[in-house]
Amino acid sequence: MARVAIVTGGTRGIGRAICETLKAQGLTVAANYAGNEEKARGLTEETGIPAFRWDVGDHQAVIAGCRQVEEEVGPIEVVVNNAGITRDGTLLKMSFEEWDEVLRVNLGGCFNMAKACFPGMKERKWGRIVNIGSINGQAGQYGQVNYAAAKSGIHGFTKALAQEGARFGITVNAIAPGYIDTEMVAAVPENVLEKIIARIPVGRLGHAEEIARGVAFLASEDGGFVTGSTLSINGGQHMY
Ligand code: CAA
Repeated sequence: MARVAIVTGGTRGIGRAICETLKAQGLTVAANYAGNEEKARGLTEETGIPAFRWDVGDHQAVIAGCRQVEEEVGPIEVVVNNAGITRDGTLLKMSFEEWDEVLRVNLGGCFNMAKACFPGMKERKWGRIVNIGSINGQAGQYGQVNYAAAKSGIHGFTKALAQEGARFGITVNAIAPGYIDTEMVAAVPENVLEKIIARIPVGRLGHAEEIARGVAFLASEDGGFVTGSTLSINGGQHMY
């Protein structure tokens, strides 16, 4: 039987590309989303992938949501923690709420999803957790103390959980995307983005599918000996 994967933030951007790539690879895929009903409907209508709504930063909602996916789709064997938000601004201008929300969703979401799905993986002695970090969690970024801290936290979370999962056949890895041509990056002011692109050795933004193919490898049987690692897919912008 096909393995079941859940992709958080899976109805648009990098998440949607991950859903479609995993499905093409033969997995049974479910997407999670926070609130954009139109994009969720679009995904389901165009690909047949069901979408489930919950806030990954809300612990109880995650537990209930994952239970629903397991009842309706099947036991979750692959978790892709992709959901993420930005609230950019320099420290001087950033509110506590902007700090807290980014940490709660981007980093808290990984903890909540792992809490919900790790026990079942342990029981079945097989699991794949792929966390989407960021180049900005590796290198920092002006105007992103919240996002960089959360993404950097994801890289530490990955290495710690990989040590716990290894003996149960659960691998835990991260991907650190660079600047990808999604709505999130399109929101960066044009003059700032131009300077960023000028620092990417391959000379362009990445595509969501280029991240998705990395996720597909880490989620596959072939990736079984890879754990605790971070795969940087950033066009050479940061060699780490
Ligand atoms: N290094 C040093 N100084 C910088 C700088 C940098 N990287 N960027 C801006 N500055 C300076 C500016 O030159 C300016 O200086 P002066 O006042 O002397 O001219 C000062 O900082 C203020 O800059 P802004 O006018 O840009 O300030 P702002 O308050 O209007 O905006 C900001 C600040 C919101 C952080 C804006 O610069 C911005 O959006 N930056 C982009 C942040 C970014 O890269 N976000 C990534 C989003 S995508 C993503 O996160 C996905 C992923 O994983 C890669």
